[in-house]
Amino acid sequence: MINDIEKVLLSEEQLKEIVQRLGAEITNDYRGKKLVLVSVLKGSVIFMADLMREIKIPCSIDFMSVSSYGSGTKTSGVVKIIKDLDTDVVEGSDLLIVEDILDSGVTLEYLMKILSARNPNSIKICTLLDKPERRKANIFADYAGAQIPDAFVVGYGLDYDEKYRNLPFVGALKPAVYE
Ligand code: IMP
Ligand code: MG
Repeated sequence: MINDIEKVLLSEEQLKEIVQRLGAEITNDYRGKKLVLVSVLKGSVIFMADLMREIKIPCSIDFMSVSSYGSGTKTSGVVKIIKDLDTDVVEGSDLLIVEDILDSGVTLEYLMKILSARNPNSIKICTLLDKPERRKANIFADYAGAQIPDAFVVGYGLDYDEKYRNLPFVGALKPAVYE
């Protein structure tokens, strides 16, 4: 598994610092609000699990699963809901979408659209990684862990063809693996 990694972009220590910083910001910004963390499956699970423990105010969690990718490395541009929120009452809630990576932005644009239509009190985006060069949709992250160059990355929840999610760091995959 490790042999397929070209370069480590974020080490375990760097990820820990990033998550602590984001947790502290969110704790400050959401005091007195009805914070609901919405994890986008499956890529954000590790980030979500670490981030929620750095948030020091009450919050609830929920999960959504959408798909815009096949097993390749480029978005198909078509997003579909595979699993919706369990809680249908989002009205009055302050939703914070927790994503692994903001790439073309197509997935989050779609999620923002359908969740906004349910009239939450507020809705924001927290992404671990941001690849601004690749943006197609008019979407930005309210909280971003790190900006990364345009390389296909895996680890800390992110996969290629469902593999590498269990690597404890974020690394760029050797192009030979997917070409
Ligand atoms: P977007 O709709 O193009 O922004 O795609 C977002 C989704 O694509 C993310 O939630 C990831 O699941 C996946 N994705 C985009 N770039 C990468 C990458 O470099 N590695 C792994 N997954 C990625
Ligand atoms: Mg994802």
